[in-house]
Amino acid sequence: MLDLQTDLQRFQITRPIQSIFIGGGTPSLFAPESFERLLNGIKQQTTLADNAEITLEANPGTFESHKFAEFRALGINRLSIGIQTFNDTLLKRLGRVHNASEAQKAATIAHQAGFDNFNLDLMFGLPDAEKFSSQQDIATAISLKPTHISLYQLTLEPNTFFYKYPPPLPTDDEVFNTQQACQTILAEQGFQQYEISAYSQPGRQCQHNLNYWQFGDYLGIGAGAHGKISLALPNLIMRSSKPKHPEHYLRDYVAVSLTTAILPAELPLEFLMNQLRLKQGFSPEHFQRRTGLGLSSLEPGLNLCLQEQLLEYKKNRYTCTEQGWNFLDSLLEKFILV
Ligand SMILES: C[S@@+](CC[C@H](N)C(=O)[O-])C[C@H]1O[C@@H](n2cnc3c(N)ncnc32)[C@H](O)[C@@H]1O
Repeated sequence: MLDLQTDLQRFQITRPIQSIFIGGGTPSLFAPESFERLLNGIKQQTTLADNAEITLEANPGTFESHKFAEFRALGINRLSIGIQTFNDTLLKRLGRVHNASEAQKAATIAHQAGFDNFNLDLMFGLPDAEKFSSQQDIATAISLKPTHISLYQLTLEPNTFFYKYPPPLPTDDEVFNTQQACQTILAEQGFQQYEISAYSQPGRQCQHNLNYWQFGDYLGIGAGAHGKISLALPNLIMRSSKPKHPEHYLRDYVAVSLTTAILPAELPLEFLMNQLRLKQGFSPEHFQRRTGLGLSSLEPGLNLCLQEQLLEYKKNRYTCTEQGWNFLDSLLEKFILV
């Protein structure tokens, strides 16, 4: 709570809080009393919007009916469940503690506990994964009636087992075909893709992440948390980061927290890296509202992307074309300052 208090004062925050995302590590291991203290502490220090979206990231292996019913009663109204796959062999390979039946049980408990809005995280492009298993994962996930599915392509992250001992992975074509096949099933079942990895039933987009991708402001509270707060545009858009190591954080987060201003010259790319992940693209007014910069600051990259049909401009919005979205990294390269 002190961390929150410090940031609220440091950034003079008086705006109501629209969403809370409790994530990182396995917060679903905590007892309901911990979240009661957390949410009461937030309510004492800020104004929480009436319909605030409060998401808890949860691992299938931690699901107990009564506990999740208590989480729901405390006001947590959305879950993000880290399923990854319903294939036990692949779960073991990924080093996940849960198995496929716990994964299915987690969704059932979520419904029984009163959660009518929850996300299932799935991964594809997994080692030794036959093409059909990802489609099978999608079909199983949909049968559990979530309102949101996040579909992530496996990336080999530094300091992980797979990074050290890279497993045989499907080819780019196989991954692309798998993704296309999964997207077709999701669309047929009413899941609309609104972000590179996010698919939701109508009206069930993740509000917290939407704000993030729309280059909105957010506070990062806790060990390893990141925040972004606009004090004045364009010169005082601040990024904050808290020490990753819990001991360092608990010892003295104030002294070791970093707050840096994003250089106005870096703002166009920072904005696009988030906003162009969204299918909705952006309007010139929104760019100006969030960065304080004019559209000319996006040149010459903007024109280059329009000419190369990576971006298109329609109804006062710049959106990625199919090509631009599939090759977003190379699109963004056109905005890197030389
Ligand atoms: C990125 S967060 C996303 C949480 C939630 N879906 C959300 O909307 O905020 C955690 C998820 O990232 C995915 N993930 C973790 N490691 C990954 C990796 N190496 N490659 C791809 N996806 C990964 C897993 O599905 C994990 O549940």
